[in-house]
Amino acid sequence: MAATAIIGTQWGDEGKGKVVDLLAARADMVVRYHGGNNAGHTLVVNGEKTVLNLIPSGVLHPGKVCVLGAGMVIDPQVLVREITALRTRGYLAEDRWLRVSEQAHLIMPYHRAIDHARERLREAGAIGTTGRGIGPAYEDKMARTGIRVGDLFDEEGFTEALARNLREKNGYLEALLGEPPLAIDDILTEYRGFRDQLAPFVADTGAEVRAAVARGARVLLEGAQGALLDIDHGTYPFVTSSSCVPGAAAAGAGLPPRMLGRIIGIAKAYTTRVGGGPFPTELRDALGDRLRADGDEYGATTGRPRRCGWFDAVVVRHAVALSGLDALALTKLDVLTGIDPLRVCLAYEIDGRRVDQPPTTQHAWARATPIYEEMPGWQEDLGEARTLDELPLAARRYIDKLSALVEAPVALVSIGAGREQTIRVGELF
Ligand code: GDP
Ligand code: IMO
Ligand code: MG
Repeated sequence: MAATAIIGTQWGDEGKGKVVDLLAARADMVVRYHGGNNAGHTLVVNGEKTVLNLIPSGVLHPGKVCVLGAGMVIDPQVLVREITALRTRGYLAEDRWLRVSEQAHLIMPYHRAIDHARERLREAGAIGTTGRGIGPAYEDKMARTGIRVGDLFDEEGFTEALARNLREKNGYLEALLGEPPLAIDDILTEYRGFRDQLAPFVADTGAEVRAAVARGARVLLEGAQGALLDIDHGTYPFVTSSSCVPGAAAAGAGLPPRMLGRIIGIAKAYTTRVGGGPFPTELRDALGDRLRADGDEYGATTGRPRRCGWFDAVVVRHAVALSGLDALALTKLDVLTGIDPLRVCLAYEIDGRRVDQPPTTQHAWARATPIYEEMPGWQEDLGEARTLDELPLAARRYIDKLSALVEAPVALVSIGAGREQTIRVGELF
């Protein structure tokens, strides 16, 4: 038995949380392996909404082990808050159901301060980050000056590393970013508190995940963000600071790639993105507003309105190829009800030439215009359908068209935010 990875195929917010929650019913362990609380995964169970930023989307199923892996950057303040909120509602009843990697990097107050200040100074060229300190924390990890979860338990080492980092960060904050310096004592006190609250969960999670896969446990790896936000393969520099493709899933969870089995992509039936960067099929008109309203397209993390547009097969086909996807879960099909005709982007035109692959430079992205095919829409409400047969013919044709264009079978169709609002087409997990 190998682990199954769930990957976003667009610019994030494809509905990964909903699908992982659904599949977690049959899992023993659910692992987040990259990113941090830039992610916002929304679960709707029995009409009740839960937004998760750090804890894997298996947490609403009692007894499933939820793991925050080594590849993550963790803001302990947010994690403690999330644990407390879940426990108040009766979830995470046992400590052993949550494991936090001692190798994951800590997001520190200076990471958040730097993220905010830089974005402000970039003005019109801003990336539109979530402001959670993600980029600065990954920078320190790669510079080998990061502080990790396990370091919290070495009082002397932690104090030394923090003092060293603060000298550099305060200089940078004050001299270059025009921000006030941060006081070491405040941070020490605050992080001692987090250490005590997180102590029961901290573990060598890589060893635990490998052991789970080796003994045949059912392990799900939950991706955050999406393929086009990948640091290497996305719309750089309008991306996040981690790798969002399955290659990173193995490393971030601490698994050998051979222990990865099926890879499932999540795609929204249209496209959204939050923040800056290229988005050829964006609808900056009343139809875009309608998708935002009907799809409730507001960031789960920051509340920002999401930019909305037509389904872009160039983007998803790229994600399928890049991630070696076995199957696709298509979400939010219900949101397209009443839009007729629908449009799907087949390819781009760049300088008079047709291209089927996403550009690799900002210069080319800026000149990419979509080549569309129109398809008939439908008027029926889809929320009650539980089999493909119960969908209108036009909706079935839309699914088939997308599947053919992106070259991946559709194994699940989501037609509402609720856990039960799901059509299972093939075996996913
Ligand atoms: P994630 O980041 O990929 O987990 O996605 P988000 O949770 O940020 O955004 C997806 C949003 O769409 C959430 O509000 C979900 O509750 C909602 N959602 C998921 N699937 C469906 C669906 O099939 N139909 C509708 N209408 N909403 C959905
Ligand atoms: P989930 O897991 C959508 C975007 C930000 C910004 C860029 C960089 O919910 O799909 P960062 O704070 O990571 O440095 O921001 O990436 N971004 C997301 N957009 N969904 C997400 O996560 C995102 N995580 C980061 O909006 O454009
Ligand atoms: Mg999200």
